[in-house]
Amino acid sequence: MSKLIIDGGQRIIGEIKVQGAKNAVLPILAATILADGESVIHNCPKLRDVDKTDLVLEQLGCVVKREDGTVSVNPCGLCGCQICEELMRQMRSSIIFLGAIVSRCREAMVSMPGGCPIGLRPIDLHLKALRELGVEISEKHGYIHCTSKGIHGANIHLDFPSVGATENIMLAAVISDGVTTVSNAAREPEIVDLQNFLNSMGAKITGAGGSFIRIEGVDKLHGSEYTIMPDRIVAATYLAAAAITGGEILLSRVEPRDMRAILHVLREMGLEVKSGKNTIFLKSRGPLKSVHTVRTMPYPGFPTDIQSPFMSLACLARGTSVFVETIFENRFQHVDELVRMGADIKVEGRSAVVRGVEKLQGANVVARELRGGAALVVAALAAEGRTVISGTEYIDRGYENIEKYLHSCGADIRRVDI
Ligand code: UD1
Repeated sequence: MSKLIIDGGQRIIGEIKVQGAKNAVLPILAATILADGESVIHNCPKLRDVDKTDLVLEQLGCVVKREDGTVSVNPCGLCGCQICEELMRQMRSSIIFLGAIVSRCREAMVSMPGGCPIGLRPIDLHLKALRELGVEISEKHGYIHCTSKGIHGANIHLDFPSVGATENIMLAAVISDGVTTVSNAAREPEIVDLQNFLNSMGAKITGAGGSFIRIEGVDKLHGSEYTIMPDRIVAATYLAAAAITGGEILLSRVEPRDMRAILHVLREMGLEVKSGKNTIFLKSRGPLKSVHTVRTMPYPGFPTDIQSPFMSLACLARGTSVFVETIFENRFQHVDELVRMGADIKVEGRSAVVRGVEKLQGANVVARELRGGAALVVAALAAEGRTVISGTEYIDRGYENIEKYLHSCGADIRRVDI
């Protein structure tokens, strides 16, 4: 357990190479079990959730090796089809293994993922789609038991473009008889990354990045070497850190095309933003301006994951900004903590009205979930005096060495063990 101690008021000025994307690496590591040989995955961020995913792979019988940012997975000794309850509770996203395990072993057993602080996060869309692909599913005593005599192609329509459900379908259907189509598929860049990885293993998938994905089932996949895409949410968090402190930052190893909605809001707030091929440069040009409305939407809309760090920006902007959270019902938990730091925010249902204040003050605050925690770090960088953030284990789920990167750009930030 640790706390982050931030003495606010230092401008963030510098350069950051952005880490690989957490939300891309998890489904890609799950996909490695489908191969007949070893896969080597580069640019894996050093995160607790990635370590847990490695543990899941080992429990299933894979040989996993990690060296710096490279994880190699050899699934040849795969012998298990079950993920233990403890790991399922620690990492809800291990539900993403369901499609891959049932495809590979014709059986899968996982415990129901526990409730998550940001909302109910049901998995009905995942299970409905797997049933359409020929998987029999029973739910008993908190466990989901899947069996299959072989996955067959199906035309699946998702009622909502769920990221996880789209990935689970791709993982289940990639080795199958026939063709599977997914309409109203999620369009997130991480799904394109999964498609590219699977195709590099010999899959025949087209359409990712659009709403209609076509998966022509193949008999087998081979191991592959692949580099994970950059993390657009981490990139946006560091842009927010520079913006709130009146600083300037150059991000490299980013993909600006995946961040259009985010960069648009930053420009609306009065920041100078220039994108290059794999770089983004941001510079402050005076006080932040409020934004009319930020509405979280599935990609290519504004990401729910960056709503909270951008709310911290709005706290110090001139004028009133409105944030509408349409994806997760409980994603305003950072609000009470920001108010503790002097912010003026009123929440009504799924909307938060933020009136800009002159300054924020340091306080003792608690991170209650990953992105809400990042929002507190962003706010603390600009606050007067000292902020002590506990609940850092949430922040560490998505940010590799956040204090090291921010310190290298001038922040007065350190971590203490408690
Ligand atoms: C993924 C990301 C998460 C991001 C989210 C939305 C990972 C590991 N996590 O989560 O960081 O915030 O996308 O961009 O990639 N839903 C259902 N039934 C289902 C599945 C989802 O009702 O079976 C609902 C959810 O409750 C939520 C919405 O659909 O309201 C979006 O969820 P989804 O896109 O599935 O998000 P995740 O894949 O869980």
